[in-house]
Amino acid sequence: MQIEWKDTLEVGSLLLDTHHKKMVELINDFCFACLENTCHDKHRANVLAYEAVRYSKEHFSTEEKLMLLFEYPKYADHKKEHQLLIDKLFIQIDRLNKGENFNVSDLIEYAGQWTEKHIDGCDKAMMDFFMAALRARKSEERML
Ligand SMILES: [Fe+2]
Ligand SMILES: [Fe+2]
Repeated sequence: MQIEWKDTLEVGSLLLDTHHKKMVELINDFCFACLENTCHDKHRANVLAYEAVRYSKEHFSTEEKLMLLFEYPKYADHKKEHQLLIDKLFIQIDRLNKGENFNVSDLIEYAGQWTEKHIDGCDKAMMDFFMAALRARKSEERML
């Protein structure tokens, strides 16, 4: 059981598509570590969890900088969505470390749905906006 990457999720930016694939890979690694060890190897699960969080935050920060640069009108809502995934990962890490009930399937399902919904909806809409802005800029330049 893992989050499946689909090529239909590509947004058309080599940078962002590479980030997305890597994020899915890292979240899967974390979930696998929990499944394999039924959470007994907390150290390994923690290392992988924090790597998934670190990478995701880095990716989100890249998108947020681009949104500000392009004056994207849905910046605040998009940023809130990013925070939801980070919050969810931290809740799971906390549960893991407290030895509380940890349902890995739930995390995979949540992260899988989040990824698909967010990339397919929010990220593609954001990329469409960036591309339209770049096209408009080019046609303005041609007028000069
Ligand atoms: Fe993204
Ligand atoms: Fe995003």
